[in-house]
Amino acid sequence: MAPMLLDSPAGLLEVRPIEPSASLRLRQRVLRPHQSIEEMGLMGSDRPGAIVVGAVLRASGEVVGTAAVAPEEPPPELAAHVAARPAWRLRSMATAPELQGGGVGSAVLRLALDKVRQAGGALLWCNARLPARGFYERAGFSAFGSAWEEEAIGPHIVMWRLTSETRGDGHER
Ligand SMILES: CC(C)(COP(=O)(O)OP(=O)(O)OC[C@H]1O[C@@H](n2cnc3c(N)ncnc32)[C@H](O)[C@@H]1OP(=O)(O)O)[C@@H](O)C(=O)NCCC(=O)NCCS
Repeated sequence: MAPMLLDSPAGLLEVRPIEPSASLRLRQRVLRPHQSIEEMGLMGSDRPGAIVVGAVLRASGEVVGTAAVAPEEPPPELAAHVAARPAWRLRSMATAPELQGGGVGSAVLRLALDKVRQAGGALLWCNARLPARGFYERAGFSAFGSAWEEEAIGPHIVMWRLTSETRGDGHER
């Protein structure tokens, strides 16, 4: 399938699946600046079935947005609350700081969600950073349970959505 194209202040972006290794620099820079790439590891992108999506600058090949999804059971409390399966987990959502707020994250998340749906996944969940909660809510996710503190990173909360959900107007969210 042809990659989705997105205009950005840095140039034309292709939103498409990428190799996990291609997104490590961005992940380290945006999500784990207190670690080296080696310490950070693959953050679950080596799990069976994992798919990594990227927003890639067409001119340079630089990855400026990313998300990773892989089959993974949700925490037990969420598992008891939502029956839909198979479950997939979303990780490593990151947009380069200079491009945040310009639609890159939503385009990357939309393709990741499409990939989960195409693979038969019914539930998508994540451990969301609290400051990103509004971003996920706009993408149709709901928070579940109470927030907790992740050392050196900050407060998190579980968020989830069904892959089949539509808005009241019948459009995919
Ligand atoms: C969270 C993140 C991935 C969002 O990517 P982005 O490219 O900035 O997102 P978009 O520009 O596509 O934003 C989509 C919508 O969400 C909103 N939004 C973005 N970040 C938000 C936030 N932190 N809180 C509330 N709303 C937010 C945008 O205003 C936009 O709204 P609109 O559709 O009305 O215009 C990005 O800001 C980021 O990398 N943050 C730092 C790392 C991080 O926290 N990652 C999440 C880990 S769980």
